[in-house]
Amino acid sequence: MLSKADNERLTRVGPGTPMGELFRRFWMPALLSEEVAERDGAPVRLRLLGEDLVAFRDTQGRIGIVDAYCAHRRAGLYFGRNEDCGLRCVYHGWKFNVDGECVDMPAEPQGMSASTRVRIKAYKTAERNGVVWVYMGPPESEPALPDFEWSRLPERQHTATKRWQQCNWAQAVEGGIDSSHISFLHSRTEKTALPSNKYHASDRHPVFEVQETDYGLRIAARRNAEPGTYYWRVTQFLLPFYSMIPPVGDFPESSREPYDGHAWVPIDDENTWTWSFSASPARAYDDKELEFRGGREGFWGPVDEQYRPLLNRDNDYHIDRARQRTGNFTGIDGIPNQDAAVQESMGPIVDRTKERLGASDRGIVQFRRLLLRLARELEEGTPPAAAADGRLYNVRSASLLLPEDVPVATGAASLLAGAAP
Ligand code: FES
Ligand SMILES: [Fe+2]
Repeated sequence: MLSKADNERLTRVGPGTPMGELFRRFWMPALLSEEVAERDGAPVRLRLLGEDLVAFRDTQGRIGIVDAYCAHRRAGLYFGRNEDCGLRCVYHGWKFNVDGECVDMPAEPQGMSASTRVRIKAYKTAERNGVVWVYMGPPESEPALPDFEWSRLPERQHTATKRWQQCNWAQAVEGGIDSSHISFLHSRTEKTALPSNKYHASDRHPVFEVQETDYGLRIAARRNAEPGTYYWRVTQFLLPFYSMIPPVGDFPESSREPYDGHAWVPIDDENTWTWSFSASPARAYDDKELEFRGGREGFWGPVDEQYRPLLNRDNDYHIDRARQRTGNFTGIDGIPNQDAAVQESMGPIVDRTKERLGASDRGIVQFRRLLLRLARELEEGTPPAAAADGRLYNVRSASLLLPEDVPVATGAASLLAGAAP
């Protein structure tokens, strides 16, 4: 459990909050490139860390992420005209470029226009492999882009999708790094079902080893396998809100399969973008796989045009009580919907003063400690070291079988390293 004060510190991310300031020291995924695909195309509303913003791709292909409101009298720039290298407010025609500079004030007397230094808030952006990144922190402390494998693999070897989640970012992360729930929440109950992995079914009491690393946490869950061997699932937590989930298939085949990761990017304190990434270092995806991993109707969907899940809190995720008795553990279709159902069911911000943690929650305890410590260190003047070195993010998750006497850190080392850039 956490004290009320620590729960507040962990979860609140608006400007000026300790965690909000920590997050503002990292680059964050902001948009899919497909949302701002067109030069001079329609601007997109965007809310991140409790700030209302608008994104647009200008005539030269540059992406602006700027204040949602015009500097003049605060009209919404979402309604603006994206034309000739800037976004023009439709109220009185003031125009802003991707750097937030006001470059035209047609209603003002001549001479005031170009020379006045009116500007709106504008954040630095970057684009890689279909994802637009944003940096919302102090310009003089700009960090490195994290060198995730999925952000630099060739075409057809990576995917990115996102879906809206109606709860605070931290309880979503806690679901992502909690390896013990897969034996329950995502299990099947029908007699004919083949377990996705026999060890998840045969040993529902994993033993956890959590190691703090330069990039976050390495969370290893150990299950009993054949005599003399352990089955390990190694989940990565990467600062400030990423996870990498181990593959579920059988080892060693699973080690050549694509792996998945998430980012839980706060829209505000009570809403989150749940991003899903995948990387396939060993081979290119075929069309079906690309659609399955990256499409709106695929594994991480289905979602609507605004990336809102069709199965959601308002319709109880289409829970089917008959299926819950005979089909799968929840009666809810789709792993992401099962995760969302339990995470959102806790309320927008879970009251951690009331929980009772067990031994299987070791990773979650360490995650909270780490984030609270880094937020405090930043308040005291020390910025997070992980933000400065993008290479730290070149890691993978893994699941593997090891002899009982081989420590997971050494036995899994080669599987956990990403390919050299
Ligand atoms: S409010 Fe935007 S130009 Fe007047
Ligand atoms: Fe899950």
